[in-house]
Amino acid sequence: MKVLVTGGAGFAGSHTCEYYKKQGAKVIAYDNLTKFELRRTGYSTEKARFYNVDFLKKIGVNIAKEDIRDRKTLESYAKSSDYIIHTAAQPAMTISWEDPELDFSTNVVGTFNLLEIVRKYKIPMVSCATIHIYGNKINQEVREGKTRYIRRPEEIDEGHRLVEGVLTPLHASKRTGDLYVQTYIDTYKLPLASFRLTGLYGSRQFGGEDHGWVANFAIRAVMGYPLVIFGTGKQARDILYVSDLVKAFDAFFKKQKPGVYNIGGGRPTLISLIDCIQLIEDILDKKVEVKYQVSRMGDLIYFACDTRKAERYLGWQARVLPRVGVTELVEWVKKNKKLFKIS
Ligand SMILES: NC(=O)c1ccc[n+]([C@@H]2O[C@H](COP(=O)([O-])OP(=O)(O)OC[C@H]3O[C@@H](n4cnc5c(N)ncnc54)[C@H](O)[C@@H]3O)[C@@H](O)[C@H]2O)c1
Repeated sequence: MKVLVTGGAGFAGSHTCEYYKKQGAKVIAYDNLTKFELRRTGYSTEKARFYNVDFLKKIGVNIAKEDIRDRKTLESYAKSSDYIIHTAAQPAMTISWEDPELDFSTNVVGTFNLLEIVRKYKIPMVSCATIHIYGNKINQEVREGKTRYIRRPEEIDEGHRLVEGVLTPLHASKRTGDLYVQTYIDTYKLPLASFRLTGLYGSRQFGGEDHGWVANFAIRAVMGYPLVIFGTGKQARDILYVSDLVKAFDAFFKKQKPGVYNIGGGRPTLISLIDCIQLIEDILDKKVEVKYQVSRMGDLIYFACDTRKAERYLGWQARVLPRVGVTELVEWVKKNKKLFKIS
């Protein structure tokens, strides 16, 4: 079996490559190695940028240092694939409003290029969207609890209205990718899925303030740096551990039931920023310093996925609870402190 993982050197992508390599597949990580968000973490970015690449090389994954916006090159790598997992993206809301053209070309043109290739070669593909495409009007449906925002019903399904509220370029680009996947399913009857992903976390995630908040908190807490919360800290997500995400990718390959799917931990993994910091403090057995700043434009303060569609059609459900996943993440950070030294 031959698997192409776009964004293979990224967080979700590198775990996907590892999984398929262990299954005995021939795996290509197709990635231009930009990792935009690392520009702003203040961590030792060069070491971090190449950490996943070195890891992948060690386990025998082929790296194609190429760009998804270059369709010809992409096609030459993708055409003989049995499965494509599209994780390459400009994933951060902040960067999307600072550089909308980068956001558009990566998330819209890049995804469109892949769709044209899978149309030509009839290759199954899963593409990563985000729950942000539902929009932040959901913020008006919540009330403030002691440590987190609360909504009834707690979980939100794929039928919920989309892109409502204050929009940023990321909303537009990720929704466009998701919409095009559905369009290619309907028009060309292709085995495709768009996964609307909740907040992800796990090892090999170099979370900054722009993207990957659980890892950002874990790294800062282990390193003794102050944590920054934008807003009240009661923002809540049904966080998803990366091994569960990879299993969802594989579940789609096995079932090939086309469609859009909410992929998250659901009610059992719903956690606020404040609760997550408390959990990290418990795990580390130390207090961390927290600084508050005003909330950011576009922020979605609540989301929990109703994953019944994925359960029904893909036979998939998240398994890893926050205490287990965050403990594993913290252990990985502890073993790799050298990656996170602020220069
Ligand atoms: N991490 C999360 O919490 C989260 C939440 C919701 C959705 N998602 C989505 O999941 C996917 C994976 O996210 P991630 O956290 O692994 O991101 P990541 O930033 O760790 O990985 C993305 C990878 O894509 C690569 N890339 C960027 N532009 C490229 C281009 N033009 N050509 C080739 N490669 C390119 C980057 O170098 C990077 O390695 C993205 O689509 C993201 O929007 C992530």
